[in-house]
Amino acid sequence: MVPGRYFSKAAFLLLAVILILLLLTTFRLQDGAPPSPAMLQALAGEWFSHHSEEYGHLQPPPAEEDAPDVNITEEPSPPPPPPKPVEDEYKLGCEKDGLDFLRRPQLSLTDKIIYSRTCIKPVHPKEPNRDIVTNISQPLFTSQTTIDLAHDCSSSSSPLPSCETISLPVPPAYPQQQYPHLLFAVASTYDRINSSLPAFAHWLSHTGAHLLIVISDVDSLPTRYSLPALESAYRAHGILATVTHPKLSEPLPRKNQPDPSSAAVPVEQLHFMLIRDSLSSLPSSSSVKWISILDDDTFFPSLSPVSTALSSFNPSLPHYIGALSDNWESVKQWGYMAYGGAGIFLSVPLARSLDPFLEQCVKESTIVSGDGMLRDCIYSHTTTKLTLLPGLYQHDIRGDPSGFYESGVLPLSVHHWKSWYHSPVPQMAAVTKLCGDCFLQRFRFPSGKGMVLLANGYSITQYPTTTNVDLERMEGTWQYATDQNSGYEFTYGPMRPKLDENTQKKSWRLVEAAFSSPSPPPLDPEEERESQREREREKKRREKQTFRQVYVHYDRSKEVGNKDAMDEVVELIWEV
Ligand SMILES: *[C@@H]1O[C@H](CO)[C@@H](O)[C@H](O)[C@H]1NC(C)=O
Ligand SMILES: *[C@@H]1O[C@H](CO)[C@@H](O)[C@H](O)[C@H]1NC(C)=O
Ligand SMILES: *[C@@H]1O[C@H](CO)[C@@H](O)[C@H](O)[C@H]1NC(C)=O
Repeated sequence: MVPGRYFSKAAFLLLAVILILLLLTTFRLQDGAPPSPAMLQALAGEWFSHHSEEYGHLQPPPAEEDAPDVNITEEPSPPPPPPKPVEDEYKLGCEKDGLDFLRRPQLSLTDKIIYSRTCIKPVHPKEPNRDIVTNISQPLFTSQTTIDLAHDCSSSSSPLPSCETISLPVPPAYPQQQYPHLLFAVASTYDRINSSLPAFAHWLSHTGAHLLIVISDVDSLPTRYSLPALESAYRAHGILATVTHPKLSEPLPRKNQPDPSSAAVPVEQLHFMLIRDSLSSLPSSSSVKWISILDDDTFFPSLSPVSTALSSFNPSLPHYIGALSDNWESVKQWGYMAYGGAGIFLSVPLARSLDPFLEQCVKESTIVSGDGMLRDCIYSHTTTKLTLLPGLYQHDIRGDPSGFYESGVLPLSVHHWKSWYHSPVPQMAAVTKLCGDCFLQRFRFPSGKGMVLLANGYSITQYPTTTNVDLERMEGTWQYATDQNSGYEFTYGPMRPKLDENTQKKSWRLVEAAFSSPSPPPLDPEEERESQREREREKKRREKQTFRQVYVHYDRSKEVGNKDAMDEVVELIWEV
């Protein structure tokens, strides 16, 4: 540990003061009123997040780094842990009833749940249209059963409700393809890369696409952190990952900035220099055509549509492809550029033409962010212009993103899903393995005077009435979404107001999804009486591989101590 490599406390205070001044002058100050402390805090969060979460700097160093004088005793390094399989086991001792999937601690369900399930038979129409809301005449679920997950299963007899089968018209699965022409590059800390493995595995495993990872904090890692171990963990998941040290060992001085000689290399510079890292990782005969610079929380539901979208560009020409922020306020703040979180795609010829200028570009840059440096570098040293690719999302949205995910949009990329908002995107997008573009496809079911909407992979929502629910419009659920001049309309169009979750809609959100072939539960006496053929068919159905989606409506009253609280679970069991 080299104490001098960290920002000193004083430098941070100074930085904070400058930031607050900046915020005061640049962020929306409604009606000229002085901002409240809460608002300032929110804005500060916004500002810090734009950078800290993407590029990992500007946030106060963790406590132990604040006190570099304390001796840090390094433990003797144990061998690196064996890589964990992505599909974790869920045999918790009660597998007979087929519900162990729901007993997994990460779901934190109440012991007693209100449960219903529906079997889904995917059908593939000749001309699938995933962009319309498909009307289904059957209700999505009819009966609900109370189940005690904590019961002693060996003596239990609580029968599961029958699984009514509903056919849903969905597009076919994506073709099985390899993507050796794609190289993704990311710079981040060891811990963030380590914890991002399941998300990367979702879209990169066994795809033949390359992933180049530059570990930004390699000089300050405890010895038990090993780059080769991290690389092996990624490779064990079928990801063609290369994990490396940064090429820059010292920060480059930036225009009008104090001499950085004593500070660590900012992650932004590493992020920008990924272009060089990527190029130098390419063998001369490489099939890589596109270099994609990512944030560590950029997520692609699937590579297939990304590759399809890129195929309309000639990769032997220079191309700079990406998305603006979805919030016009951010665009006004940061400018017209490909925002890093949405994913930036450079053709190899463009990357090569930038390579000789990279150091110069950092030194000339007046913007702190890596994506901003890239933009300035491209504009000042090439004639290439930004091409916007619809479907890439920077997702500068905070709070409840359900309006987006229930709108029928099929995103190529999403971002900020574990910081500005929280959505289990790898689980949500798991259904792409089954029916491709059916992710977030919408189906409408009858429900009394109202309706039930399934946004596949995200939620099931029950509306007591259909008035005020214009499914053509996105519901403005997140912070500032429908405020006047909030800046989101240029991306999402006019939105409808957010509905009240207690009175105007009820949602079950997806929390878990996985392929499974659960050991068949014992046939119940009812079934025993059925004809031999029926029983055979039932047995076959149970033995078949299934894909399960668990949607949960959490009973919030348990948070205020209601011991009788019961979470509600809807399971959709897809035939594979
Ligand atoms: C750190 O360890 C050294 C050598 O063991 C010792 O001399 C020094 O007093 C320790 N410093 C602190 C702050 O504990
Ligand atoms: C589905 O039903 C709704 C309500 O009855 C109707 O407005 C809509 O046009 C129908 N959609 C299709 C694609 O038929
Ligand atoms: C990396 O992540 C795995 C799984 O979450 C964890 O068990 C392991 O301790 C982490 N490794 C390090 C060095 O933090």
